[in-house]
Amino acid sequence: MMAVEPKVAILEAQQLTMRFGGLTAVNQVDFVLEKGSIASLIGPNGAGKTTFFNMLTGIYSPSAGRLWLYDRDITGLKPDELTKLGVARTFQNIRLFNNMTVLDNVLVGMHSKLKANLVGTLLRPPAVVQEEANARKKALYWLEYAGLAKSRTFELAKNLSYGEQRRLEIARALASEPQLLLLDEPTAGMNPKETGELTAFMQQIRSELQLTILLIEHDMKLVMGISDYITVLANGKKISEGTPNHVRQDPLVIEAYLGKE
Ligand SMILES: Nc1ncnc2c1ncn2[C@@H]1O[C@H](COP(=O)(O)OP(=O)(O)OP(=O)(O)O)[C@@H](O)[C@H]1O
Ligand SMILES: [Mg+2]
Repeated sequence: MMAVEPKVAILEAQQLTMRFGGLTAVNQVDFVLEKGSIASLIGPNGAGKTTFFNMLTGIYSPSAGRLWLYDRDITGLKPDELTKLGVARTFQNIRLFNNMTVLDNVLVGMHSKLKANLVGTLLRPPAVVQEEANARKKALYWLEYAGLAKSRTFELAKNLSYGEQRRLEIARALASEPQLLLLDEPTAGMNPKETGELTAFMQQIRSELQLTILLIEHDMKLVMGISDYITVLANGKKISEGTPNHVRQDPLVIEAYLGKE
């Protein structure tokens, strides 16, 4: 008989709320993310999806509610603390250091894991030199893994195509060795071929790296095809959740999307 893996929640939000002045961008959202799943967060423009990510990654401290990573209360932790705990992300508006090389963009992302950084720049004892060499090797590994051509390693980030920049952001996120990867509209601006390749890549990293992936995405074909579970936000509130089939047929979801057209 096959052993049935018990379900484990890697992330949980309880009544998560973010207010900006009079606007409640995320309103008392309860949310559970199953370890090892690919889940999506969808909803019309301005629904609160990116704000939700910004709370999960410590960019904003929630106005109310709590966040848990496994059994650990992570509410209000800073971005670098969350990176160390295994939470990594990419951004809706690509955030790369445009005038740095592809390789350096990944190395900067690994900085929080390099202990000897400060002292090292002045003294460079052998242990530091070794650590830098290891970091570089690792960065090159993740660049290749994310599908960036070797010939691009020393190119400035700003000279990459849009699709390559998105992959570089993913390489940088993977180099922090996360357990949970949050992707904010990873296929925005991609052509259908690039979107197809990135979809396959997301499935590959989930199975090869045992990653949990939470995706914000407007491409409904992609979302419906890849997601184990979907959560729908509208005006900051969770209006639906469940399997793609459930969500697709939910009148509240249909109404939320049509109402905005
Ligand atoms: N820092 C901020 N200060 C004030 N208002 C904000 C801030 N960040 C987001 N908002 C507002 O919160 C609401 C939700 O924005 P958010 O970016 O989370 O939406 P979204 O679902 O990601 O939309 P999109 O699909 O367009 O990316 C919007 O009304 C937005 O203007
Ligand atoms: Mg957004």
